[in-house]
Amino acid sequence: MDALLDSPPWTSLFPVHPATTDARWWRTAVVYQVYPRSFADSDGDGVGDLPGITARLDHLAALGVDAVWLSPFYTSPQVDAGYDVADHRAVDPVFGTLADFDAMLARAHALGLRVIVDVVPNHTSDEHTWFRRALAAPAGSPERARYVFRDGRGPGGSEPPNNWRSIFGGPAWTRVAEPDGAPGQWYLHLFDARQPDLDWTNPEVRDEFEDVLRFWLDRGVDGFRVDVAHGLVKADGLPDWDGTTAMVEGGADGATGPMFDQEGVHEIYRSWRAVLDSYPGDRVLVAEAWLDSLSRTARYVRPGEMHQAFNFAYLTTPWDADRNRQVIVDSLAASDAVGAPTTWVLSNHDVVRHTSRLGLTDAGSLPKGIRALDEQPDAELGLRRARAATLQMLALPGVAYLYQGEELGLPEDTAMDDEARQDPAWFRSGGFEAGRDGCRVPLPWSAAEPSHGFSPTGRSWLPQPPSFARHALDVQRGVPGSTYELYRRALALRRHLQLASGSLDLVELPGVTTSEAVVLRNREVLVVTVHRGAPVSLPAGCDLLIASDEVVQDGAGSLVLVPGTTAWVLPPRAARVPHARTTG
Ligand code: GLC
Repeated sequence: MDALLDSPPWTSLFPVHPATTDARWWRTAVVYQVYPRSFADSDGDGVGDLPGITARLDHLAALGVDAVWLSPFYTSPQVDAGYDVADHRAVDPVFGTLADFDAMLARAHALGLRVIVDVVPNHTSDEHTWFRRALAAPAGSPERARYVFRDGRGPGGSEPPNNWRSIFGGPAWTRVAEPDGAPGQWYLHLFDARQPDLDWTNPEVRDEFEDVLRFWLDRGVDGFRVDVAHGLVKADGLPDWDGTTAMVEGGADGATGPMFDQEGVHEIYRSWRAVLDSYPGDRVLVAEAWLDSLSRTARYVRPGEMHQAFNFAYLTTPWDADRNRQVIVDSLAASDAVGAPTTWVLSNHDVVRHTSRLGLTDAGSLPKGIRALDEQPDAELGLRRARAATLQMLALPGVAYLYQGEELGLPEDTAMDDEARQDPAWFRSGGFEAGRDGCRVPLPWSAAEPSHGFSPTGRSWLPQPPSFARHALDVQRGVPGSTYELYRRALALRRHLQLASGSLDLVELPGVTTSEAVVLRNREVLVVTVHRGAPVSLPAGCDLLIASDEVVQDGAGSLVLVPGTTAWVLPPRAARVPHARTTG
């Protein structure tokens, strides 16, 4: 009877992506990024550490994620918050010891969580033994050949070897004093001057990093997030380039210069893949590559290369239904073409948190940090849209990346005192860029404790803004409607409904315009995100599974979604036909 009464609610349905029976963990996981400095501090020095992470892993298991990615915890002077590695095989004392790492890994595995660690192969710290030896050795020596040393141009070699700019601002070259004190060669650093770039044409560099991978694989890690994966190989001759080097908005013109995305990087990842494949278990490589097209990014995840690449195109898409729909379609097409899972990400330690980004008047701008004197985001609107964006993301087939604190709805700290800032981008840009400190503030675990439970002494390497008290985990846990409970329930449903291995169709609903809302179907679940315009009434008979904010019913019993809402609903019963299209 129902079947006769209920007809499919859509006016058209456009298939985008087939379901898959290949549900290996790295094709379907939700990966939670831990930023160790700011997750949990066990020893009271105000900087998070490995024992702090171990003690809080239960939180991640309870949240329902599958894996954890840890930003660097290796020995480092912390000039770039650990992305300046002085010893790739050792834990920095600020984070603990190798034994602490082993304990953390064992606890994670006992909880069923995989662990991905960062590997930073583009550059080292200037305190790395190799770089110290390079400085002490003469021009043309094998010690210098591990880095990109060149003679300068102009009279006496006083000009940099080319015109490249550092991504953090200023020139990408620094001149050294030779061992005899005379002004000497220049070395390349795409980032801070204390992060010299390695020369990946040197086989010694390649051997060293394969050995570093083995070191951590032997300890049992489940994979690596590869920092600046598109940067290792530079164009022959290091030609001048007039474009701007950029990270976040690489999509514009930043990622196409002679320092990025050169063909030679792929051979490196093919040999890394062979190293990983020689280990039991499914160990994975994840590319951090800020490229200007999804098809270029997909080249990093071709068969025999990496497993996943971050989908920064999704992260950088403005709050706009047409753009949002398009990037989803394009992302799936690009990764399906090479047989890789698509990833989805909205926040990380390098960008303004999506809770705040989406509350800006131009909710598509990608500011490099926000200062008190800049336009302040509308916190309520930003959080509302962020919850809607996340709920859409968690319904998409593939892998989702979460950044610590987003499950608490944490905003960016947009009013941090400039004196507190630590990001080298702030210093190297002469204060032109606020930098990334605003998204790196230590987490609030409990509202009433000192530093909101981050550290037993109440210390915190970046100050926590007053708003963090109301975002603390202990005031959200068990509270219906809280962002934490939204994430927890969405993750449970995603798993239960097998959305990560599901199919995707674009759907048009009667009366819903494509510029106002994105309507998708994954398996039998309709996923509706209303971006703007009038409230959207869903066809009668839809059953609500979860919504990012309150959804009301109109007089006719239809669910009504106001702008800034995502809902997962089951369509009327007759339309709940599981997909036949499946790839193996
Ligand atoms: C990556 C990291 C970023 C770091 C940079 C240099 O983009 O995510 O935090 O500053 O590499 O290592």
